[in-house]
Amino acid sequence: MLIAPDSTTLQTMAAEHVARALAHAVALRGRALVALSGGSLPPGVFRWLCSEPLRSQVPWHDLSIIWADERRVPFDAPESNYYLTRQTLLDHVPIPSDQIFPVATYYPGPQAAALYQRQLEALLTIHGGQLDLALLGMGPDGHTASLFPAFPQLDAPPAQLVAAVEHAPKPPPERITLTAHALNLAREVIFLVAGSDKAPKVYAVLHGPYAPHNTPAQLVRPPAGQVTWMLDAAAAALLRG
Ligand code: 6PG
Repeated sequence: MLIAPDSTTLQTMAAEHVARALAHAVALRGRALVALSGGSLPPGVFRWLCSEPLRSQVPWHDLSIIWADERRVPFDAPESNYYLTRQTLLDHVPIPSDQIFPVATYYPGPQAAALYQRQLEALLTIHGGQLDLALLGMGPDGHTASLFPAFPQLDAPPAQLVAAVEHAPKPPPERITLTAHALNLAREVIFLVAGSDKAPKVYAVLHGPYAPHNTPAQLVRPPAGQVTWMLDAAAAALLRG
């Protein structure tokens, strides 16, 4: 766990951590499969990653990029996680375009999810069955990716790696998400969380009873991976007693 004094420092430290993790993964395995999220913090992390000195530490050519979740909106909509990532990262670094895998949001949700499942299965075959890094956020209700409290995607069968979501409580309502089974294939998960509204769920995930229907982030427990919580002081407030 890492606690930063404020969210700007958190984003800087997260960028340094991500750069190190990517360099390490590629040094060990020659390539890395990375799942990114939307939300308020990743853009700041991406901007640091695009800037020196981190930019030259990341083996950009060896990365494949997928999304932990996506909003079902056009590729160029401001709400699109792909669009956000393109603006703040992908347009500025040399990741080959055929190694970037946006969700096909122009299809209806179930079809887009089925296609993403096939793409992910193919990528996992190339990457030794694991994601190298998943960068996740958490909402004040304990959701992560688009796994929302009490939603049926929480009970996906083990073979289901991707699910469509309707009526999401966080807009936009239609989403595609990796399931907990997919996220649990990660070698490393980073939860990046800031703000006092998140503090109760940060405490619940780390110290509360296991109740993933109330706090879906608890589902992320990769058996062959490590989870690092990176928090600002406000999100960590209840941990300090
Ligand atoms: C999304 C997300 C979502 C996000 C959290 C935290 O696209 O909506 O991937 O899971 O990471 O809601 O977002 P904030 O940091 O903006 O609260």
